[in-house]
Amino acid sequence: MSGARVRKAVFPVAGLGTRFLPATKAMPKEMLPVVDKPLIQYAVEEAAAAGIEQMIFVTGRGKRAIEDHFDRAPELEQTLDAQRKHELLQLLLSATPAGVSFVYVRQPEPLGLGHAVLCAEQVVGDEPFAVILADDLIDATPGVTAQLIESFRRTGASVLAVEEVPPQDVSKYGIVAAEPLNRYEARVTRIVEKPRPEEAPSTLAVVGRYVLRPEIFIELAHTPRGRGGEIQLTDASARRVARGEVIARRFEGTRYDCGSKEGFLRANIAFGRKGGLIG
Ligand code: UTP
Repeated sequence: MSGARVRKAVFPVAGLGTRFLPATKAMPKEMLPVVDKPLIQYAVEEAAAAGIEQMIFVTGRGKRAIEDHFDRAPELEQTLDAQRKHELLQLLLSATPAGVSFVYVRQPEPLGLGHAVLCAEQVVGDEPFAVILADDLIDATPGVTAQLIESFRRTGASVLAVEEVPPQDVSKYGIVAAEPLNRYEARVTRIVEKPRPEEAPSTLAVVGRYVLRPEIFIELAHTPRGRGGEIQLTDASARRVARGEVIARRFEGTRYDCGSKEGFLRANIAFGRKGGLIG
């Protein structure tokens, strides 16, 4: 499968977003704005820049705002046009990158990230695909999805984005043990979901970007509920790790964990500074 094009990206957006209640009671977490753009739009732009042609959203209850965001808004467009607010109109139209299609599948119950990815199986089919968690906002050039696709093209292996985290934070992540292949890449030898610090094989954490071979669907279909009673993508990946088929890629870029309040605020400050809005 080395060399196969990665044309599709899965965006699991069916989580409950409990850490941002009450903001996320009626609004999806992925629609929270960093400065003036929702998290999900940064993620879609990153995917489009990496050559992804089909954006597959795994949605749940209360996620209609995401569908509306990537749809045309004829009345708003006409009003802005009539008011000669052409810059704003362009900004509005640019929310939907040209040449890409959007597909929505439903996760009937929030049974975990692994289950959400499995819900996309019929749409993805038998080809490699990216998974992008919009709440990990990563400021990088080229984007992290493009970096992972580059590793996939060269190796043909599934690729997980990883970064070092402080030892006290390992229990928030999937943690890998890996044998270095070069400066950026390592072959994963073990992966554990949210280990206690004393059990963690390293401090190398998997973050919200993946390029996966389609065999992951077979593993997911046979993965029992794990931590938190959820079907974990980490547990399914562990089965591919056992076959020596998974690579960890240290990416270049700065990640903001926008699933946490602190990370979300940091992202707003950093992007606000970058855009010259604050000193
Ligand atoms: P999180 O672990 O961040 O969960 O999910 P969450 O529900 O979004 O947020 P909190 O922890 O309650 O605040 C990681 C990613 O997996 C998706 C989420 O939408 C998020 O992008 N997810 C999680 C699903 O799509 N379905 C699920 O069943 C669980």
